Amino acid sequence: MTQLELSDIQGIVLFGYGSLPHARWVHVSFENDESEPGTWLSELRHEVHASARGKRRQEERINVAFTHTGLARLGLAESELASFPRELQQGMSDQLRSHVLGDVDENDPKAWELGGPSNGPIHALVMLYAKNVDAIAALRDRVVGRIAALGGVVVHEDSGELRDPLHEPFGFRDGITQPHVTGSPRPRDPHEDEVPAGEFVLGYRNAYDEFPPSPQGTDGFDIGSNGSYLVYRKLQQDTAGFWQCMLDRARPNGDAKAATKLASSLVGRWPSGAPLVNYPDHDPGPGAEKEAFAFHDADPAGTKCPLGAHIRRANPRDMLAPSANESRRAVGRHRLLRRGRPYGPISKGTPAQRATPDGADRGLVFIALNASFRRQFEFVQQTWLNNPKFAGLYDERDPITASVMDERGQHFSIPSVPVRRRLACLPQFVTLRGGGYFFVPSLRALAWLASRATKRDAARPP
Ligand code: HEM
Repeated sequence: MTQLELSDIQGIVLFGYGSLPHARWVHVSFENDESEPGTWLSELRHEVHASARGKRRQEERINVAFTHTGLARLGLAESELASFPRELQQGMSDQLRSHVLGDVDENDPKAWELGGPSNGPIHALVMLYAKNVDAIAALRDRVVGRIAALGGVVVHEDSGELRDPLHEPFGFRDGITQPHVTGSPRPRDPHEDEVPAGEFVLGYRNAYDEFPPSPQGTDGFDIGSNGSYLVYRKLQQDTAGFWQCMLDRARPNGDAKAATKLASSLVGRWPSGAPLVNYPDHDPGPGAEKEAFAFHDADPAGTKCPLGAHIRRANPRDMLAPSANESRRAVGRHRLLRRGRPYGPISKGTPAQRATPDGADRGLVFIALNASFRRQFEFVQQTWLNNPKFAGLYDERDPITASVMDERGQHFSIPSVPVRRRLACLPQFVTLRGGGYFFVPSLRALAWLASRATKRDAARPP
């Protein structure tokens, strides 16, 4: 049995903080030479919450993560910085990473509002969670006040809110499927796959029964142990465009029920979260979202849930060649812990109401944790979501998240008997507004980083 060092692992790694509906993500820079990131971190680290349930008040949570530039700003030596993964070193907006992730055209980092080449560097991401609007505002003001007093600058802020039950802005139940981390104190739901802790937390065995590579200090300190890597992507959703397109392409055209069915086939679940594989013809309503399902035997041709639906691409379960067992084993090496939340005003009502443009900026702050950006997040994005040849398809990408790469738009096949239906020229519904790759240190590593940074602060010329 894996024993996790719960008091050393930051809380966000093992928990989604579902009981704290209000979140604020503060992106901070200590670019100014006069600023004192060492003093800041020495103070903040005492407030950072671990995965162990402590005596601290349950009303709020603080977690923190760093970009590679941020680690350099804290004073890490060249060889220490070089021991972090290449993806973190390059950053999400790097050209090579954009190429791997398919962040081109509308999603190109040049147009981002955070984390792109024209947005100024981000050193740290402070993640705040609280029970209500007043509490999150007070927590934010306290934390940001201290950052400002020590010469830091808030480069960007996002707010997220969990509504219960959680629906993402297109109106679909979200946050259903999550791997269960071996050794986590969170009770395991029967539908959750058990995934070795080393897939998400450094210092433990992973799905290959190996220890993930861990960044090292020149003094022999294991910087990575009990840490994780975090992906942050601000995904703006065109809710009106999505529903207008569904109404236009529905058969009969404009019919609300048919539009909902079509939208559900793009997602792979009904708005209630019920899986299409188990309920191909109608939405049974809440209660079925946690039912077990797989694809290999139940729906090999995708006539219940299309082969290219978002959930089939994001987690193909047992559907990949050569066999169900091989598929399960391979897929187990590319899992993500999703910690994102919707931002912006709720969109609700009938498909026609949702299709009425209201000019609101809304979407998903997608946050995922993994032990390897390349083997987990980037693999899912590149080899499954964005792959035109996924599962025997030949020129389509994920209908929900992929950027449209040519003027013909996106395609989506709906296998059915006697003939499949092919939707051509779908527009892009989700636009990447920015993001970054972060290291989530353990509490011990935070203390180590703080002492490094304090020394560096002190060594500044007067
Ligand atoms: C705005 C963009 C997105 C929307 C609207 C969206 C929506 C959804 C919905 C409605 C579900 C089903 C609920 C659930 O199983 O929890 C889902 C599942 C999932 N999504 Fe997304 N998603 C988005 C982006 C992404 C991205 C960028 C990734 C990964 C790179 C991703 C990975 C997943 C995974 C792994 C699942 C679970 C699938 C399963 O295990 O069955 N999603 N998403």
